[in-house]
Amino acid sequence: MLWLKNLLQLPFLLPLEDTGIDHSSIRDLNWGDINFLHTTDTHGWLSGHFNQKQYDANWGDFISFTSQMKSKAHSQGQDLIVVDTGDRHDGNGLSDATVPNGNKSLPIFAKQDYDILTIGNHELYEWENSKTEYEFIASHYGENYVCTNVEILDNDEWKTIGNKYRYFETPINGFRILSFGFLFNFNRNNQNTKVTAIEEVLKTDWFKDIMDKFPEKDLDYVVIIGHIPITHQWKELQVLHKFLRSYYPNIVIQYFGGHSHIRDFVVYDDNSTSLESGRFCETVGWLSIDNKIEGVRKFSRKYIDFNMNSFKYHSKKFGDFQTKQGNEVKQMIEKARQDLNLNEYIGHVGNNYYMDYVPIDDKHSIFKLLSEKILPSLEYPKDSNEERMFIINTGSVRYDLYKGNYTVDTKYIISPFKNDWVKISLPKSLAIKVSAYLNKGGYLNLLPAHQWAQVMNPEKFITTSGHHPGFTTASKNQPYPIKRLTKGYVTHDDFGTDGDDTLHYPTINFPIPNVVDSKQFKHLEESTVDLVFYNFLKWNVIEALIDLDNKDYSQAVEFYSDVYLSEMITNYIKEFGV
Ligand SMILES: *[C@@H]1O[C@H](CO)[C@@H](O)[C@H](O)[C@H]1NC(C)=O
Ligand SMILES: *[C@@H]1O[C@H](CO)[C@@H](O)[C@H](O)[C@H]1NC(C)=O
Ligand SMILES: *[C@@H]1O[C@H](CO)[C@@H](O)[C@H](O)[C@H]1NC(C)=O
Ligand SMILES: [Zn+2]
Ligand SMILES: [Zn+2]
Repeated sequence: MLWLKNLLQLPFLLPLEDTGIDHSSIRDLNWGDINFLHTTDTHGWLSGHFNQKQYDANWGDFISFTSQMKSKAHSQGQDLIVVDTGDRHDGNGLSDATVPNGNKSLPIFAKQDYDILTIGNHELYEWENSKTEYEFIASHYGENYVCTNVEILDNDEWKTIGNKYRYFETPINGFRILSFGFLFNFNRNNQNTKVTAIEEVLKTDWFKDIMDKFPEKDLDYVVIIGHIPITHQWKELQVLHKFLRSYYPNIVIQYFGGHSHIRDFVVYDDNSTSLESGRFCETVGWLSIDNKIEGVRKFSRKYIDFNMNSFKYHSKKFGDFQTKQGNEVKQMIEKARQDLNLNEYIGHVGNNYYMDYVPIDDKHSIFKLLSEKILPSLEYPKDSNEERMFIINTGSVRYDLYKGNYTVDTKYIISPFKNDWVKISLPKSLAIKVSAYLNKGGYLNLLPAHQWAQVMNPEKFITTSGHHPGFTTASKNQPYPIKRLTKGYVTHDDFGTDGDDTLHYPTINFPIPNVVDSKQFKHLEESTVDLVFYNFLKWNVIEALIDLDNKDYSQAVEFYSDVYLSEMITNYIKEFGV
């Protein structure tokens, strides 16, 4: 009967209020005097993840959640602040199937009442996106939009997008907060925008003037929202923190970051921590600060899975969870999806194909699928060489391809980037050296964001053997049968391994190379072949060839095809399925 005794001790068998909610594998949030909810790198995923139940909530649900959490906080005499740290384009049909980009998704996004929000680099590649950020998002949010180091050209004048800072007082406890919004030192922005490196901002008088205007005695918190990875490995926030501490030696400086698409939490000093909350509406970050426990200040963090189970559980709202506003936003999403035909069936996906949950040579690797099936399916342009080799950077794929219907939406999800293919004709023996060269190291920008985050901080991620000093205890000692747990994030951060709100069976992110190739050769003998790659990779390839062949090939780059990777995938799946 030992097994029965053990079973009865499992929390999910205890008599519970019948809420329809799975309580068994959820950890409670710690609430403090001040609490924050954080989103980042949403990239248009406002309709939720249709093929992944564990992220089944949408933006309407999130709005209901936030408002329920705010009421709960207020009824407890606490404040709740909602923040976002940028990247609202490129990754989903809802944002990317419209012209201009974000035309339907941004009005939906803007239904969320953010207390402070800032810009990401995906608002700055295309002028059109920067313009919408300035004219729609920043003006909609008014004083809540904070952007300290990015400017935009408006009638030949450089203008701040929104505000350089926001000072405000919280409604319940009257906490006095000074906040800034920073973007990392990004240089691929369109020319009508200007990014000033943090280091440079710190030297300016206008920035110091703001500090002088708000001395430490007049503040309770400094809050920095940044589209910047929070890890110690990325120096920008460290430099900023050192500077801020010289003005504010004693009060809390709280950071929120983004861009590297991971869950992370870092302690900067006794009174300063930093939270990063994932990507693609998979995560809502939670941070609380409690000042009263035995005179000791306590920081707490959780990564909330973006699903209804978590939202209802944490807000303790079961039957009457949805708010009127939340429901309206759900309808807006539904209507936008219909207008854009996002659910339209294109073809059948019979298996899951992953970016990195399996090794790159596994039959479930999306890169193997691309290299062996999709890339060879592109028609040869007239007058091209009859042998060719493709190179794609792994960052050109944005998300896993899940079993089920392949729809108009899926097309944008897998690879939203519009990039022409170009080619250089080369001796076969030279062409085949290029991918190996690009994989030698460096070139982190060619990888998907969460992969370069992993290269920067290998100690934070589970290894291919499935072992991690921080994870083994988390997955072995938990009193729940592993089989009940869904696969998902098991995050290792500066506070340990209990940050994920939901216990998961850990997924492993296998290392993947910077680029993969697809060799479409007819024989092994030397011949002239076309080396085909995204225009985006042009300078990487030219640099590689200078090193490999001592020659500058920049004049030899020719147009090859305008059938984007996502169109190739779509055409292939439409015809053959995968
Ligand atoms: C959407 O497009 C319409 C028509 O071009 C334009 O008037 C409107 O301002 C756009 N809205 C946003 C949020 O981009
Ligand atoms: C942290 O804040 C507390 C309370 O304000 C203060 O007493 C302490 O000196 C601070 N610690 C550091 C390292 O700044
Ligand atoms: C998949 O597409 C088929 C054909 O259009 C449709 O009948 C079915 O409802 C779709 N399934 C889902 C889960 O959307
Ligand atoms: Zn991003
Ligand atoms: Zn980014």
